[in-house]
Amino acid sequence: MCGIVAYIGKKRAFPIIINGLKRLEYRGYDSAGVAVLNGEMNVFKKKGKVNDLLEFTKGVKIDGTLAMGHTRWATHGAPNDLNSHPHLSGNNRLAIIHNGIIENYGPLKDALKKLGHTFTSQTDTEVLVHLIEEIQKQDGLSLEDAVRVSLTKVEGAYAIVVMDQLDPNKLVAARKASPLVLGIGDDELFLASDATPIVEHTNRVVYINDGEVVILKRNAEYQIVDIDNNIQTPFIQELDLKIDAIEKGDFDSFMMKEIHEQPKSIRDCMRGRINAAEGWIKIGGISELYKDRDDIGRIIIAACGTSWHAGLIGEYLFEELARIPVEVEYASELRYRNPIITPKDVVIGLSQSGETADTLAALNLAKDKGAFLYGIINSVGSSIARLTNAGSYIHAGQEIGVASTKAFTGQVTTLSLMAIELGYKRGTIPKSYYLQLLKELEQIPSKIEKILESTEKIKYIAAEIKDATNALYLGRGYNFPIALEGALKLKEISYIHAEGYPAAEMKHGPIALIDENMPVIVIATNQSAYDKIVSNIQEVKARKGTVIAIVVEGDTEIKQLADHTIEIPNTDEPLTPLLSVIPLQLLSYYIAEFRGCNVDQPRNLAKSVTVE
Ligand code: AGP
Ligand code: GLU
Repeated sequence: MCGIVAYIGKKRAFPIIINGLKRLEYRGYDSAGVAVLNGEMNVFKKKGKVNDLLEFTKGVKIDGTLAMGHTRWATHGAPNDLNSHPHLSGNNRLAIIHNGIIENYGPLKDALKKLGHTFTSQTDTEVLVHLIEEIQKQDGLSLEDAVRVSLTKVEGAYAIVVMDQLDPNKLVAARKASPLVLGIGDDELFLASDATPIVEHTNRVVYINDGEVVILKRNAEYQIVDIDNNIQTPFIQELDLKIDAIEKGDFDSFMMKEIHEQPKSIRDCMRGRINAAEGWIKIGGISELYKDRDDIGRIIIAACGTSWHAGLIGEYLFEELARIPVEVEYASELRYRNPIITPKDVVIGLSQSGETADTLAALNLAKDKGAFLYGIINSVGSSIARLTNAGSYIHAGQEIGVASTKAFTGQVTTLSLMAIELGYKRGTIPKSYYLQLLKELEQIPSKIEKILESTEKIKYIAAEIKDATNALYLGRGYNFPIALEGALKLKEISYIHAEGYPAAEMKHGPIALIDENMPVIVIATNQSAYDKIVSNIQEVKARKGTVIAIVVEGDTEIKQLADHTIEIPNTDEPLTPLLSVIPLQLLSYYIAEFRGCNVDQPRNLAKSVTVE
């Protein structure tokens, strides 16, 4: 998704903006641009990467202590130089950058054209800066008042920053549904889509809320008002993000770094929440789940992408261990389906970024219907985290790679803690099993470390199948969502078409696809359905499919059948996903590397999808 960075202070702004945009590259984008005010309004913008923008401005002396920059993820108008941000008003006095969608830009554009405005781009954003210009001119308003009044006429999602050539000591920003963070330094202020461009300058931040307008001035003076111009009290937070958390360190990519961080991120997720020796789990919000109700009627899990796969694992966990009915919904479908949600329902929002537009909208719908909202989020202070009634941060640390890895295992760990605790609290699992699951859960990080020690075989298999054009992932029970997740990982970073399927479903269609060119990855660690999964492997082999099996250490039977096997340590079945996903993350990574793909910034993808 797009990135926004802005600066007002005493330093030369251009390098601060460029470095900030580089910090946001992981969010995904197709073009980049900067506006610097130094008496003149200097705008530089180009299709392509931030480095292309740098090349474009080579040799140009760009002084000025007030600037803003943008990386665009096009929604209206092709990715090209003209549609890149910043956009200027008709009188070239105002510049704007924008993350989101102005849904009523059409009627607004028609009305402005009737007033003589002409436009140079196809974007919705350019309409907004012309609207601000028109209102500023008609009513003789200050920049901040012109922005505020304009936004009362706008429908849609936005995080915007606006500058005025005739008001060189001010930046005005606003947000609705798209994220925006204010950084407060000594004599300087920053704005960004998230904390990563800010953390190297200051750890004092304010997360801007929906409907708020921020006026930034020199000497770190700022004011926050709502859309009706009521002054808001800022809630200043201290970032716990450290700069090395957003550096690759010794790894070639953020994704590989984050795959290897999983033992640590899972330990961090469990810290203070589990003690097997003393026999307890403490996880926030569990008692609130019962608020105003004698029991939990139903759990609905709303999420997208990889988080939705984590939700499917949550369904198996809550239903098996706590005997609570669960429905897992694609948030994008739930928000428009007019679903039956009641105050007896607990709706869990799963989101790494906490900013996914569809998940946010689905949770708002659930809130309107009286449900209790519980968030399982990675990004502290994010919109979803602030919307929910209770929740747990997964403490995975900043996840930069677009393909989610450590956030996924953090979500599954948190769901496991909740399901085990609710199962014990509700008496649906005996204390002996409760204690065994606690002991096993504490062992998971070291078992992941063991998997990460022997990646050579996975790399070898990746080399064998890197030229495949299709792949099939099969799993049963807890490993069915892992089949889906493994397929998504392969799709999103290697661009090979891959499908995940319940293994038993193969005979209902996908088996027609099996031939010697189709690698079939089978997650075969199940204790409960082992014989069935063996039969599925035999069915594939009978049709000359190449079988890569994920098996439990010491498995001999499947080793005789499969073309390749990857061994993982054994664990209790409900905890299997935390281990069986690791080889699939690595397999997709190595295949993508062999294919020369950009694993951290796959084409067309964004880390946080803050538009519909
Ligand atoms: C997963 O690898 C993808 N990056 C994507 O499917 C992601 O999981 C999805 O967009 C949801 O993001 P969220 O967890 O931040 O809400
Ligand atoms: N809707 C705007 C455009 O298409 C902004 C997209 C974004 O969030 O980058 O330019």
